[in-house]
Order: sequence, then structure tokens, then C-alpha cells
Amino acid sequence: MEEWIARTRARVCYGKDTDKLFSKIAKEFIELGTRCQKEAGFFSVALGGGRTPVKLNEKIVKASPNYYMDWTKVFVFFSDERCVSKNHSSSNYKMICETLIEPLDIPKCNVFRIQGELNAEAAAASYEKIVMDFFGDRGKKSFDLALLGLGEDCHTASLFPESSALREYMRLIVPGGRGKEGLERVTMTFPLINNSNNIWFLICGEEKRTAFDHLLKGDYDPWRHPAQGVYSQNGNLVYFTDIEVM
Ligand code: 6PG
Repeated sequence: MEEWIARTRARVCYGKDTDKLFSKIAKEFIELGTRCQKEAGFFSVALGGGRTPVKLNEKIVKASPNYYMDWTKVFVFFSDERCVSKNHSSSNYKMICETLIEPLDIPKCNVFRIQGELNAEAAAASYEKIVMDFFGDRGKKSFDLALLGLGEDCHTASLFPESSALREYMRLIVPGGRGKEGLERVTMTFPLINNSNNIWFLICGEEKRTAFDHLLKGDYDPWRHPAQGVYSQNGNLVYFTDIEVM
């Protein structure tokens, strides 16, 4: 593990009490956003989907009144999406709207949705233009924060083991193949994710222990353990976890 930490300059932030851990992450999220807004006038985030972010988003919303964060200057992107309508129960956009965007009144014009109603290739091409235009307009090439999860197979975003998306180093957004639920996916690629100024993983639940062990202690093999392909070129990679790593 020490070698991995040294290689990626990652930090493991362990909290035995999951609820307290999410409160800590929520506080750090808002503090980071506030700093970014002071420095650049806005805070851009690329958010992952799944179940874990729901608990964190609730904590962010609950904590928000205690801080001055201008939520009208937060720009929301998605690390990945299923190819479903925006009202589909599996839509990451729907989950993040309901648990974060709407409760915090983040302007919808600041939310850049992957058009899951399109086929994966069309949605990927469309989203890549949206991301490029956003960065081009602001002279930035990176999100302030990419907030990712870890699948039990060590995937992250929709970068699945042995997927061609893992070997994409030119495009920023590509089709990600199918997740375990059988839905076509669209995903950010390693170049886009790794260019983020901060990359945080939310790794909670005993069912993630094996994947986390592979991530930290396994031989370096992003083809089989895609989360190993994520590292912060800017040195701010944090694994927030309730799993005590031996
Ligand atoms: C998605 C996510 C995916 C997720 C992991 C963990 O769209 O599903 O981007 O990478 O983060 O699968 O999901 P859980 O939080 O549900 O365990």
C-alpha cells in the first residue's frame, strides 16, 4: 500500500463511523468550493452516480446553511451516465438533481447533463463538446473536483474492467459499455478525470473491501482494476473510506 500511496501521492481518509465520515466530507466539499470561488469565481465538479453519493449529498445539503457558498456559482458535470431518460430511476442526473441540485437551488443552466436518451456514441460526442466549450470559455482545462465511487469490480465512473474505454487517451468522453444492470453507459475517460485539480473517492461498505485492497495493494493493472488508472496529476487524490485498511 505504501508504494501505491507514494506512487499516486494519494491520501487515505478513514472514518469508522460512516455518518461522521460523510459529515467530514461534506464540510471539506463546501470548504473546497468556497476556496475555488474565492480564487476563480466558481466551483466546477464532476459527480459520480450510484448509491453512496445519496448519503453524502444529504450531508452537504444539511451542512450548507452553516457556510457561505454561492451555489449559483457551482457548475455540475457527471462522470458518467446510463443511457436512459433523465427521469429514469437509474439516471445519475435524476439522483443528483433530487439529492443535491434541487435542494440547493443550483441553477439548471449550471448543470451539464449527459443526454442519456441518445445512443452512447451520440451522447458521448455531444457531452465532449459541452465540456470543451465550458473549459474553453473559462481558459481552464480541469474540474476543481471529481467525486467518484468504487465498484466491487474496482470500476470507477463507467470505466469497467477490460473495457476499450480504459485505453482511450484522446477523447474525453466515450461509450463505457454495459454496467452490471445491463444498461449502456457513457463515461469520462482517464485523461479528463486525471486532469481534475482534486479527485476524491467515496469507498464505503464492507462489500468494497476486496476492490479497495486491489486498488491499494494489487499489482498495478488498470485493465483489470480500473480505479488504479485514476491519479491526480495535481497531487490531490483522496480515498475517503469507512474500511480500515490493514
Ligand atoms: C455509477 C457510478 C459508479 C459508482 C460505483 C459505486 O454511475 O454507478 O459512477 O462508478 O460510483 O458503481 O456505486 P455505489 O455507490 O452504488 O456502491
